[in-house]
Amino acid sequence: MAPATVTNLVITVLLIAVAASAQTPPTTSYANHTVGGPAGWFFNSTTNHSATNYSSWAAKQIFNLGDFLIFNTNTNQTVIQTYNETTYQSCTMDDASNNDTFQYSGGSQNFSESLTVEVPLTIEGPNYYYSGASDGVQCQQGMAFEIHVGHGLGLPPSLNQPPPPPYIEPPGPDTAQSPPITVGGAQPPGNGDLRIGVSWVGSLCTLLSLLLCVFP
Ligand SMILES: *[C@@H]1O[C@H](CO)[C@@H](O)[C@H](O)[C@H]1NC(C)=O
Ligand SMILES: *[C@@H]1O[C@H](CO)[C@@H](O)[C@H](O)[C@H]1NC(C)=O
Ligand SMILES: *[C@@H]1O[C@H](CO)[C@@H](O)[C@H](O)[C@H]1NC(C)=O
Ligand SMILES: *[C@@H]1O[C@H](CO)[C@@H](O)[C@H](O)[C@H]1NC(C)=O
Ligand SMILES: *[C@@H]1O[C@H](CO)[C@@H](O)[C@H](O)[C@H]1NC(C)=O
Ligand SMILES: *[C@@H]1O[C@H](CO)[C@@H](O)[C@H](O)[C@H]1NC(C)=O
Ligand SMILES: *[C@@H]1O[C@H](CO)[C@@H](O)[C@H](O)[C@H]1NC(C)=O
Ligand SMILES: *[C@@H]1O[C@H](CO)[C@@H](O)[C@H](O)[C@H]1NC(C)=O
Repeated sequence: MAPATVTNLVITVLLIAVAASAQTPPTTSYANHTVGGPAGWFFNSTTNHSATNYSSWAAKQIFNLGDFLIFNTNTNQTVIQTYNETTYQSCTMDDASNNDTFQYSGGSQNFSESLTVEVPLTIEGPNYYYSGASDGVQCQQGMAFEIHVGHGLGLPPSLNQPPPPPYIEPPGPDTAQSPPITVGGAQPPGNGDLRIGVSWVGSLCTLLSLLLCVFP
């Protein structure tokens, strides 16, 4: 092969490689974000303020579907997630509807026990987080932040399920007993992709059987 041909070949290969790399979507993977970094999710009662500035922490991160927020905290704190800005601004979940606001809580009812709350990001757009401790005073004093969730890779299969149906207590002999009271849900709603997929398959089946009737 003449040297000029070899050079052309090398240039062509390089051009193809460059073109291919330009078309490759940016490589992203699911990430876990430790809220507040080393400071964790805490209120400092000495300074009467959050342990760190959570808004400026959030501003330095990129959040996508399927990522997790990891709240390293203790049982004195709560984590409330809402998609409703009004609820967020109010620092309370008293008037919140339980379809857009969720309280994550650990199993322990005791104060000061260490607690890790893992919150999956399942809905794109604005997501708001705040603490319900001290009747909203801590939220007003910095225990609150807003994030914007992008699409990224989309939801992984582990999170892309419709939520399980709510537990309904079977009627027993003692029907006068009132059902357990739950404030908000522990589980954010899954997205509806699966159900949309099923109904799409359903329509296709209907279409096929219609065709079979018309053209047996
Ligand atoms: C992120 O946290 C979730 C929930 O604890 C865990 O299942 C997953 O393995 C973690 N992913 C990474 C990359 O650390
Ligand atoms: C609270 O803030 C004060 C003053 O910045 C600091 O000395 C103290 O260590 C903090 N307490 C906690 C529990 O972080
Ligand atoms: C903390 O700050 C809030 C709002 O300024 C105030 O109402 C509250 O009394 C303060 N608490 C303490 C212990 O200083
Ligand atoms: C936290 O940081 C944001 C900027 O990221 C700033 O606007 C805000 O005033 C800060 N809050 C406090 C209480 O310092
Ligand atoms: C947000 O929550 C408030 C109550 O805190 C409610 O009045 C309002 O309708 C909700 N907004 C949306 C868009 O659901
Ligand atoms: C949540 O419930 C309110 C009524 O309480 C309704 O107006 C709203 O559309 C619901 N939002 C979603 C996302 O289902
Ligand atoms: C709360 O603390 C008490 C006393 O230390 C202990 O007996 C109990 O098991 C704790 N409860 C939980 C749910 O951890
Ligand atoms: C947690 O709350 C209890 C009760 O208000 C208080 O005695 C304790 O000092 C708090 N612990 C921390 C680590 O903030």
